[in-house]
Amino acid sequence: MEFSSIILYWYLKNQRDFPWRKSKSVYKVWLSEIILQQTQTSQGLSYYNKIINAFPTIKELAEDSEEKILKLWQGLGYYSRARNLHYTAKHIQNNLNGVFPNDYNNLIKLKGIGPYTAAAISSICFNEKRAAVDGNVYRILARVFNIYTPINSSTGIKTFQELANSLISETNPGDYNQGLMDIGATICRPKSPKCNLCPLKSICIAYDNNTINDLPVKIKKIKIKQRYFHYFCVEYDGEFLMKKRTQQDIWKNLYDFPIIEWTKANKENEIDYKEKLKSIIAVETVNIKKKKYYEHKLTHQKLNITIEYIKVDKIINHNNFIKVNRTQIEELPVPKPIERFFKELFNSLDCKV
Ligand code: ADE
Repeated sequence: MEFSSIILYWYLKNQRDFPWRKSKSVYKVWLSEIILQQTQTSQGLSYYNKIINAFPTIKELAEDSEEKILKLWQGLGYYSRARNLHYTAKHIQNNLNGVFPNDYNNLIKLKGIGPYTAAAISSICFNEKRAAVDGNVYRILARVFNIYTPINSSTGIKTFQELANSLISETNPGDYNQGLMDIGATICRPKSPKCNLCPLKSICIAYDNNTINDLPVKIKKIKIKQRYFHYFCVEYDGEFLMKKRTQQDIWKNLYDFPIIEWTKANKENEIDYKEKLKSIIAVETVNIKKKKYYEHKLTHQKLNITIEYIKVDKIINHNNFIKVNRTQIEELPVPKPIERFFKELFNSLDCKV
């Protein structure tokens, strides 16, 4: 049997049951693909359900605020994807009469949609013959064809895309692409692949050569940048000072506390944080109640975070920080370490009551 027939035949019998597969709604497929770019289906499913419940149609997404989608996205990471989702929903609603483009070449023009997503949507929803090459596909092809070219090199990207294009099903490219995704996620897994269940076992060269665990090859990642954040969680009369992060940096448009970022060059204990805080907001007495440390790993950065919880008796000037109470915090999109800090803080405060 040829490669694509093996995949389609397997998919017919073994496909996973996901809500976005129940219809060919472009909106639902688009949303699922954006979510699943950064997370496994086990976690992605609950985010998908939450977002679809809040915004059943693209119109509802477009007409609500960016803040609401960021809040629903909270914890998933890669927040630019949520911002792009909202931007593109508004663009489609306002400039394209609420109708999604129906082919690859126009889908890829949309913000947040790259070659993989355009191929996934156009094949699944419009039966267009476009190979969607994600991590699963790289892994399967590298193993079945025993290819050692690094998947993240420019030659690798070209080689794998060309190979994928040559293999795709003529008749049912959408199911074929999703079949590969499912085989990659459930059988041809990065670790402990279930080769005995694999429909490609009889043609898999790496299986034959016993090289499954060497493939795919990836060039080592760039160096992880260390960053040091010192936050002040300032409480005054039951309200907390927070600000929207507007700079071109991680967590854009999420809310955080007054912050000092330091480099390794200045050692933490050489900085007078109380004085620094006074330079950000005008307060008199600074009374440190609690200090917490968190590590937060992103793709290219490791954040070393200290959060000091401070109660002040008086705020002379809170500059451009907003004051939010506990109920309002629930509505604000915040980075994961801050969400965690609040949870721990409120738990400990509630226990003392
Ligand atoms: N991963 C990425 N896209 C997917 C899809 N449509 N179904 C299952 N897993 C996926």
